[in-house]
Amino acid sequence: MDRPSLKRRAARLFGQWGVFFRGFIEHPRMVGSIIPSSRFTIARMLSRVRWDECKVFVEYGPGVGTFCQPVLDRLPRDGKLIVIDTNPLYIDYLDKHFTDPRFHAVLGSAADVEAIVRAHGADRADYVLSGLPFSTLPEGVGPAIAEATYRIIRTGGAFLVYQFSAKARNFMAPHFERIESDFEPLNVLPCQLFWGWKEPRG
Ligand SMILES: C[S@@+](CC[C@H](N)C(=O)[O-])C[C@H]1O[C@@H](n2cnc3c(N)ncnc32)[C@H](O)[C@@H]1O
Repeated sequence: MDRPSLKRRAARLFGQWGVFFRGFIEHPRMVGSIIPSSRFTIARMLSRVRWDECKVFVEYGPGVGTFCQPVLDRLPRDGKLIVIDTNPLYIDYLDKHFTDPRFHAVLGSAADVEAIVRAHGADRADYVLSGLPFSTLPEGVGPAIAEATYRIIRTGGAFLVYQFSAKARNFMAPHFERIESDFEPLNVLPCQLFWGWKEPRG
């Protein structure tokens, strides 16, 4: 067994969880979870993305980047991953740990996704992934984010949402024509997954 490498991996995992937990202690309602998502949630959530058609992938609330490497592993070489988080602790952590030139970490709110995507030289996003705790965000923020997300996604793209509560679907339903759902039991806590597809209108 390669002990130093195992040690390094354990140190990295606990370091990452420690930063995530500190963010939760400081802003419990904005973070909404004490442990990052499981690899089962990540695999299930990303399984419906058509990666060959994906050039711009946006993630809201990356935290310590649990989804970031799996997204980068699947993203085409000329793609972009733009992650947006309100917590400077997480954005500093991500900036230090992800050196891939396709990766862009932004300190800001998901409500400003349109301006952020345009500032990165794109008109539309192909997919937007959200780990935001919709039900505990300040009043009005969830609906504003869902509306801006619908506008920035191209036709044929999707809004990917995972949450402990099925209420997240209520924020998506006024905008997204078709919503698929699933459930991942192997997560702390077990979570609901939704894919809101932007269909051609008319
Ligand atoms: C449940 S954590 C997500 C953790 C991570 N994505 C995972 O799967 O392990 C929610 C994240 O949303 C961020 N957040 C809360 N409100 C936000 C907003 N309006 N815009 C962007 N990020 C926000 C928090 O700082 C936190 O990093």
